[in-house]
Amino acid sequence: MLVQAKGVGRITSPNGMLTLLTGVNTSGQPYYELQRGKRTIVSTSLLGVRLREGDMERNFRILSFSTAGKDETWTQPWGEETHVRNHYNELTMRLQQVRGKRRQLTLVFRVFDDGVGFRYVFPSQPFLHDFVIMDESTQFAFPFDAKAWTMPTDGTNYYEALWTASPLSTKPKVSTPVTMEVDDSLFMVVHEANLTDYASLCLRPQHSEKGTSVVKAELVPWSTGELVFAQTPFATPWRMLIVAKSVAQLAASRLMLNLNEPCRINDTSWLETGKYVGVWWGMHMNTMTWAQGPKHGATTANTRRYIDFAAAHGMKGVLVEGWNYGWDGDWTKEGDKFSFTKAYPDYDLQALQRYARSKGVRIIAHNETGGAAANYEQQLDSAFALYHRLGIKVVKTGYVNALMDNRELQHSQYGVRHYRKVIEMAAKYHLMVVNHEPAMPTGLQRTYPNLVSGEGARGQEYNAWSTDGGNPPYHLCVLPFTRILAGPLDFTPGIFRIEGRVHVQTRPQTTLAKQLAAYVVIYAPWQMAADEIENYEGQPAFTFIEQVPTNWQASRVLLAEIGKYVVTARKDRDSEDWYVGGMTDADARDLKIDFSFLDKDANYLAIIYRDGPEADYVTNPYPMVIDRLTINANTVLPIHLARSGGFAIQLKKMR
Ligand code: NOJ
Repeated sequence: MLVQAKGVGRITSPNGMLTLLTGVNTSGQPYYELQRGKRTIVSTSLLGVRLREGDMERNFRILSFSTAGKDETWTQPWGEETHVRNHYNELTMRLQQVRGKRRQLTLVFRVFDDGVGFRYVFPSQPFLHDFVIMDESTQFAFPFDAKAWTMPTDGTNYYEALWTASPLSTKPKVSTPVTMEVDDSLFMVVHEANLTDYASLCLRPQHSEKGTSVVKAELVPWSTGELVFAQTPFATPWRMLIVAKSVAQLAASRLMLNLNEPCRINDTSWLETGKYVGVWWGMHMNTMTWAQGPKHGATTANTRRYIDFAAAHGMKGVLVEGWNYGWDGDWTKEGDKFSFTKAYPDYDLQALQRYARSKGVRIIAHNETGGAAANYEQQLDSAFALYHRLGIKVVKTGYVNALMDNRELQHSQYGVRHYRKVIEMAAKYHLMVVNHEPAMPTGLQRTYPNLVSGEGARGQEYNAWSTDGGNPPYHLCVLPFTRILAGPLDFTPGIFRIEGRVHVQTRPQTTLAKQLAAYVVIYAPWQMAADEIENYEGQPAFTFIEQVPTNWQASRVLLAEIGKYVVTARKDRDSEDWYVGGMTDADARDLKIDFSFLDKDANYLAIIYRDGPEADYVTNPYPMVIDRLTINANTVLPIHLARSGGFAIQLKKMR
């Protein structure tokens, strides 16, 4: 429907709470604003792009506004819940420059109850075919300077820095998501959705008046300085803003997924979720090596041990790193030497695969590229065809080093294109991908649900070898409201032998119970039990890892303050059972869990794994108490969490 051709376009969310206004200013530059009720929550923020072919920022006039909308519910093959409602009103503003080549640019805005998305569309037109984006002018101008949780982009490899909080205006250049705590009833997240053939979005604060904050888009460039090479017709990824009343609502937002395209994999019946163990932690703890030699981890005998363990404990997968040629030199610099099909002589690829299959377990193939993306692309088809023939279902990819001889960044358009090739090739061979050192995820798993998980965060491995002692206690209490809003995280929880072995001071800075809590709090459809398997033998706590599902029909955050504590409840996709995980930062805490989310007329057997009275992450991380109680929807359970402690609860519905 055409609404008006001049002036200000206006669109509200389906529930009427959010109103977006857009138009062009006196210089002909497009802008937008956002209001919640009567309160402005995004002030006038400029839009536009600068191309090598000329400026597309100013001198625009509005050709037309039109509106559309949608209300649909779609089903996730796997996820934090089964069904997602996609309900929005849409406003399209068509613009044309009044000078020069009279170029056309379209802005599409979608307003949902939980936030907004907008994107630039470059229509086919006489004087714009191939073009190069040199700058994106998109601003987010806030009439407040909120406490923001961010991760810096500079000085961190692979987006593996700690998230820290300070006023938005004081930040360096940061990656998205950016999570803002504005006040007790306003939380906002800036991120992007559907990053396709473009460069990752970062934000940099611009000069702003005291008490306000303005950030501007900065895209990750090619090594040659350009940001994006494109051709009309072209649409950018969505720039998105989640708007929520509470941190629980933030975590429940599915705005990013809704802004992605529907599933392109016709038959998704081969997709699975599950847990895995791996020939992995030993390499990070220096007890094994990826390379050949006396400590080689990926031997036939060692892998058989892991397969036996997986089969005995209900793990579907066994990750094996270091099985293939290429690890013997400095693999972080010589990625071209990696073969993705040729196994080391002490690793019997075919026999191990047969053995695994006979036990109902599958090997997870590991493809570390050392950043040599071209070498990987050359072998992709034949390697994935081989894995498919062998019955492999999951591939973990890795990019330790920037791409292409250390020239192109993971988050550049080059990287984004490369990762897409891998996902599409994997789909062809019915393989699921766990992408380490990825570009920051943007919800592509809606379109390609074989992209099951990824890294892009300081994972458990830092608790093996980082020189700063490991991840600080607050880290896991931040991730659900920052990185994990961007998608599943392969954090690899479940370290039971909590002691420094590479550096004495470096180890998981958690109690054992907090390691269990991560299986519920940290969302991933494939979850690792990351420790060396001998450390699970005879451990009653391991029963929780055996039992906890990795696919859910419902999820909710029950209690949380970002960076301090978080309690999450999730309902198993395949049963009536619930699981609850809770964790705290360096402060001990007494929380009360209200179980009113349970079915009203039922009793549940609760098996509670909690910190023992003497547990303390510094002095004694191990003590754990396992209780069995009957509870129901009226139960309010007090629970004590040790310093950097936690708890995990299995709730089995009783007949
Ligand atoms: C970094 C990955 O995050 C880690 O899981 C892997 O073991 C190494 N690269 C080697 O590929």
